[in-house]
Amino acid sequence: MTQKAIYPGTYDPFTNGHLDVLERALNIFSEVVVVIAENSQKKTLFSFEERFTMISKVVQDYSSVSVEVLHDGLLADYARQQGARAIVRGVRQVKDFEYEFQMSLLNRHLYPEVTTVFLMPNVKYTYVASSIIREVAMLGGDVSKFVHPYVLDMLHRKLDESKHKK
Ligand code: PNS
Repeated sequence: MTQKAIYPGTYDPFTNGHLDVLERALNIFSEVVVVIAENSQKKTLFSFEERFTMISKVVQDYSSVSVEVLHDGLLADYARQQGARAIVRGVRQVKDFEYEFQMSLLNRHLYPEVTTVFLMPNVKYTYVASSIIREVAMLGGDVSKFVHPYVLDMLHRKLDESKHKK
């Protein structure tokens, strides 16, 4: 039986921490769909299209991974339509848990058959968050240890774009 999971997030940008969690999910599920979704609390640096291109490139060698964009609507409805019974979320620190707990129970309320699975990344990624990567990169810092070279290139291009706008 195919065990399909969805792995949603804002992914602005996709980091090596995200990739680490994805690889752990692939040890459990036969198919994982990375779903780029909107978090109403966040304004993104990269467009949906850019994030789709970026993640597709990073996961191109993983045959059991696909990438989708959820432009609007509920993740729970999307999971139901996809026949996914599991939602994968990475947790790095205790502070992540309150929000994750709330989201997971709400998703279960909306789609009772879905189970959220929390996975911890390698300890070396516990302090890696997209927001901090974005900030450091946009201020010219070296984030090459934390993102795929293609993502790094996209961050550098954004930095150039923003310099030209000034
Ligand atoms: O990477 P993030 O920002 O922590 O991911 C949060 C995300 C995008 C998974 C969450 O905001 C989400 O599920 N958005 C889709 C809309 C939705 O279903 N919202 C209600 C969640 S209970």
